[in-house]
Amino acid sequence: MYPLFFRTVLSRIDPETAHHAAMAVIRVLGIPPFSWVARAVTRPDPALRTHAVGRDFDSPFGVAAGFDKDVRGAAGLYALGFGHVEVGTVTAIPQDGNPRPRLFRLVPDRAVVNRMGFNNRGADAAASRLRRLRRRRRRAVLGVNIGKSRVVDVAHATADYVTSARQLAPLADYLVVNVSSPNTPGLRGLQAVETLRPLLQAVRDAAGLTPLLVKIAPDLADDEIEAIARLAVDTHLAGIIATNTTISRDGLTTDPSTVAAAGEGGLSGAPLRTRALEVLRIVRAAVPQTFCVISVGGVETAEDVQERLDAGATLVQGYTAFLYRGPLWARQINRGLAKLR
Ligand code: FNR
Repeated sequence: MYPLFFRTVLSRIDPETAHHAAMAVIRVLGIPPFSWVARAVTRPDPALRTHAVGRDFDSPFGVAAGFDKDVRGAAGLYALGFGHVEVGTVTAIPQDGNPRPRLFRLVPDRAVVNRMGFNNRGADAAASRLRRLRRRRRRAVLGVNIGKSRVVDVAHATADYVTSARQLAPLADYLVVNVSSPNTPGLRGLQAVETLRPLLQAVRDAAGLTPLLVKIAPDLADDEIEAIARLAVDTHLAGIIATNTTISRDGLTTDPSTVAAAGEGGLSGAPLRTRALEVLRIVRAAVPQTFCVISVGGVETAEDVQERLDAGATLVQGYTAFLYRGPLWARQINRGLAKLR
């Protein structure tokens, strides 16, 4: 149903405006009794229950960071069948992000390019919404993804992450250090092991008992990925999320002038699939079996999700295919996964 709706209506609307329209509907779906009705239709098969990072997930499939930056849609996303929602990226200081337009569809590739730049209302606002959400008896597992505030110099990044971690870790089921977005100048440089080690140690101490994960870019060299994976184990993190968007534009079928017109930013969706799977395999080979690895990038179908699980992912996330496949996407994935069991 949605692909036709997408082709005829949504694809003509500016993608960020379409996102806000979809989010308005998702927020309504999160309000009882709509949430109860939606959840009754989308409830994942009990066979999909998954235990990870000390939490019980109704399904191994969740929404990746960036969709619900301000903790507005998590209840509705749960009602749509996602097992977890990773909110954020949240920064300590509220920020508007980059000027619009900053989100572009590459329809022939089932991909998008974004340079949103962590537009969000900041850690204070996120904390009060998380507090409200946590009062609900039934809710998605809530990951909270934190990033560096743009106005803070990279040299002072640790203190900025620690500020967010202190505020948000007590309200999160798991916390994520995002050092892999291409849209904040200097951010990905924090992935260098000698820089990352003190950052992860400081945030881990600030996070207390809340499981901490680090999210990495697909554009790192394979040996850098292995080094970060070993570092994550050494610094007693709970897991790794792989991957964020790519700055590569290789192998696209979209008209080059459309790609060029989109400009700089991170590419996500189907073209990321092969590299995300490769990175998952590299990470899984470098960490113990019990270590949580969340795979994200280019997942579209239940078969794709199952392929990640078979390759050693503990959990799987998606974002871009939600824009193309529509509101029943998580339900379709969950049903497909249950059939594959
Ligand atoms: C993202 N992503 C992202 N990741 C992150 O850690 N923090 C963020 O704020 C955002 N923001 C964001 C905005 C938009 C518009 C998109 C499309 C993506 C990256 C996202 O979480 C995921 O890692 C990638 O999109 C790859 O997964 P998919 O989209 O190919 O399923």
